[in-house]
Amino acid sequence: MKTERRAKLWLVPLFALVMCVGLPMAAGAQEELTDIEQLGKSIFFDENLSINNNQSCASCHDPAWGWTGPHSSINSGGAVYEGSIKDQFGDRKPPSSAYATQSPVFHMDKKGLFVGGNFWDGRATGEKLGNPAADQAQGPFLNPVEQALPDSACVVYRVCNASYPVSFKDVWGNNACDISWPDIDIEKGCAIKGFIVPLSPEDMAKSDMAYDRIALSIADYEASPEVNAFSSKFDQTFKKMGSNKAKLTKEEQRGYALFRGKGMCHRCHTGNGQKALFTDYTFDNLGIPQNPDNPAGVAPDFVDPGLGGFLESVGYPESVYMAEWGKHKVPTLRNADLRPSVFEVKAYGHNGYFKTLEGIVHFYNTRDVKPQCPGDYTEAEALDADCWPAPEVSENVNVDELGDLGLTPEEEAAIVSFLKTLSDGYKP
Ligand code: HEC
Ligand code: HEC
Repeated sequence: MKTERRAKLWLVPLFALVMCVGLPMAAGAQEELTDIEQLGKSIFFDENLSINNNQSCASCHDPAWGWTGPHSSINSGGAVYEGSIKDQFGDRKPPSSAYATQSPVFHMDKKGLFVGGNFWDGRATGEKLGNPAADQAQGPFLNPVEQALPDSACVVYRVCNASYPVSFKDVWGNNACDISWPDIDIEKGCAIKGFIVPLSPEDMAKSDMAYDRIALSIADYEASPEVNAFSSKFDQTFKKMGSNKAKLTKEEQRGYALFRGKGMCHRCHTGNGQKALFTDYTFDNLGIPQNPDNPAGVAPDFVDPGLGGFLESVGYPESVYMAEWGKHKVPTLRNADLRPSVFEVKAYGHNGYFKTLEGIVHFYNTRDVKPQCPGDYTEAEALDADCWPAPEVSENVNVDELGDLGLTPEEEAAIVSFLKTLSDGYKP
């Protein structure tokens, strides 16, 4: 792989130019990427891989925002992102795409709990490519509310013809793009909804294989030390003495102790020591209220069924899927606070109901203590009125591990201080 890189030296000035005109740099990019990781990175940031050449994975998973959505205005409202086609929205908040590669293939564990997969509902199971993040990476290019390309062959065509610093052929071999494309204007066709690139069965099989390799390349980048950086203040407390070892403040230490103790956060946001991911990849319904500004929530009777909806769609019996109705995957808490400045707003939870870490921690503490708000209150309105709205899904709400924690305001604040130590790229 090293010789390949040398052969591509002439591309370096070009690459430098591209970087200057604004290719976003990942937070804390210090380690050199392998060729396949570099390819995956180019694909991740390539806006041409969308129907209107205006959206990449990073449009909804920006490193400077902890690999989630980069617009305060959106996050403070509906928190769902518009796709490449105007006015087409998903109905969930983008979770962090970092650390997602660590999720196991979706399965049922010995205790009968569903575990793993990618997406809030686990439906990118990892069964196809052996890795949930790779299965996941095949979704957005073709999802009509995301990058919205009409055919996977359009993605393959554009990746094969892209001028990336490390090309698809560099990584997957000279034959990897050896597809006899029909003699039509494929670019034009790929900008039209419903278009299918006319390929022979043999070329279609090659294109499908290339599409799998595109996903595997992205997943490799997502698993690289540039994305899963483990470079937060919390991580740096585990360094050996001397080499700029960080130390948590008294307040942050107190927060960590509460996180593991009285706050019970650690029951679901698990992990020990430096490689802690702060999730056990199980699913729970916390009783988070409907986000009144989510465009999907405006539709009458819309509720997000989460894991239950996925299980129903793949044919599990009602007794199984109803027990999982409204449950969502426990997200990592790494980079929960990471954003370009404290004036920027992030959103939390599958529907982005919460806009502050203070708000969500207060909810864990007081969900079952406060009266129910008499309507669809936003987080700010609910905090003002000292109430919480009804849960979005009333089935299966977890009442054992949250809802009435008895934390004082100082204890809540300490937990928030601890969460803020989980942002990558920490500089002492
Ligand atoms: C229009 C915004 C948008 C774009 C573009 C987009 N995503 Fe996402 N991403 C989301 C949303 C929303 C979810 C959650 C969807 C769900 O759970 O149903 C998500 C989920 C994910 C997850 C799952 C994380 C986890 O922990 O389960 C990963 C990984 C991810 N995206 C990577 C990508 C990659 C790679 C691309 C480009 C090929 C991409 N995304 C393009 C919005 C977007
Ligand atoms: C019973 C399991 C469980 C416990 C206990 C728990 N969480 Fe969570 N946490 C979850 C799940 C599941 C979600 C996603 C729920 C959803 O979106 O519907 C979540 C979401 C979050 C989020 C939003 C992250 C994001 O990216 O949107 C934060 C922050 C958070 N939890 C912090 C905490 C803290 C702090 C505690 C302790 C006070 C805690 N959690 C206790 C399961 C749990």
